Amino acid sequence: MLKVSIMEDAMAATVSPDSRTPVPGLPLPDLYARVSRHVPAIEWAALAPDIEAILRLKRERNAVILAHNYQAPEIFHTVADIVGDSLALAREAVNVDADVIVLAGVHFMAETAKLLNPGKTVLIPDMGAGCSLADSITAADVRGLRAKYPGVPIVTYVNTSAAVKAESDLCCTSGNAVAVVRSLNAPRVLMIPDEFLAQNVQAELPEIEILTWAGHCEVHERFTPGDIRDVRESYPGVTVIAHPECPPDVVAESDFSGSTAMMMDFVLQKRPRQVVLVTECSMADNIAAANPDIEFIKPCNMCPHMKRMSLANIRRALETMTHEVTVDPGLADRARAAVERMLLVR
Ligand code: 13P
Ligand code: SF4
Repeated sequence: MLKVSIMEDAMAATVSPDSRTPVPGLPLPDLYARVSRHVPAIEWAALAPDIEAILRLKRERNAVILAHNYQAPEIFHTVADIVGDSLALAREAVNVDADVIVLAGVHFMAETAKLLNPGKTVLIPDMGAGCSLADSITAADVRGLRAKYPGVPIVTYVNTSAAVKAESDLCCTSGNAVAVVRSLNAPRVLMIPDEFLAQNVQAELPEIEILTWAGHCEVHERFTPGDIRDVRESYPGVTVIAHPECPPDVVAESDFSGSTAMMMDFVLQKRPRQVVLVTECSMADNIAAANPDIEFIKPCNMCPHMKRMSLANIRRALETMTHEVTVDPGLADRARAAVERMLLVR
């Protein structure tokens, strides 16, 4: 299986032998070995037919599965061809050769893949997989900001609709937000819609005035500095890593903050004995599956949108070739330009 996330090489190199030992007597024993710490054997027997069907359908349809780091281990470690954060998935979408892309993630990620590789059929297994950030702002809101702040560049988080991207100057992800804002060489920048991401970038770029929008991630806004202090008290010496969608006072209490791929890289390189990933729960599960020597401590929160993906609906998507993600041709070129400008920033 081709795995091309930033962390995958490191992950493959650090796989402990006991986590990859095939389990005899079960279907697909090599694949089960990858997830045996998270999926009970009895559950695997029920999942294996869907995995077998997906592997066959990918060949028949000439399809690849792009999966976000928040996908459950039974998706991330078995049927995904490409895994990563939003930035890695966008970069990899450009290079997909296959006819069909199945996006195991949320709708804005599928839309971004379609924008960047418009000749491909892009499927999402559940059209309801949204995002509270994407829902927090409309294209009309962005036009309003443009009128209110003439001349101020607008940097839009990729967690938005194509219509919102189309009204923006360029996009960013949590993996490149600081570099993107800095690349503008502007004294004032509008950063929308994630207020906390914008405030966290502001802390790193005090020389730039960053104007924000009041959108929040429903998963990360729930973490508090008290959560971090409690975990530090219970586990002295624990390493704390927070996603930059968390409130700034949570990021300030952490040892490191970065995109999901950056969090994964940090853990795989530093190999802390105990770590808390202040983010979606599957992140820890996906690293733990291949790294049993690292102990992952709670808290974590589930993203209900990411969790709409399942092996059953990925199988159905490939069987029925639904649900196809398209972008209004009237705005696709402008939205694509905003994403492509971001990909030029290194
Ligand atoms: P990453 O780009 O860091 O993977 O984040 C995407 C996301 O939706 C986090 O909530
Ligand atoms: Fe959106 Fe938050 Fe879910 Fe990421 S975790 S997809 S930002 S709701």
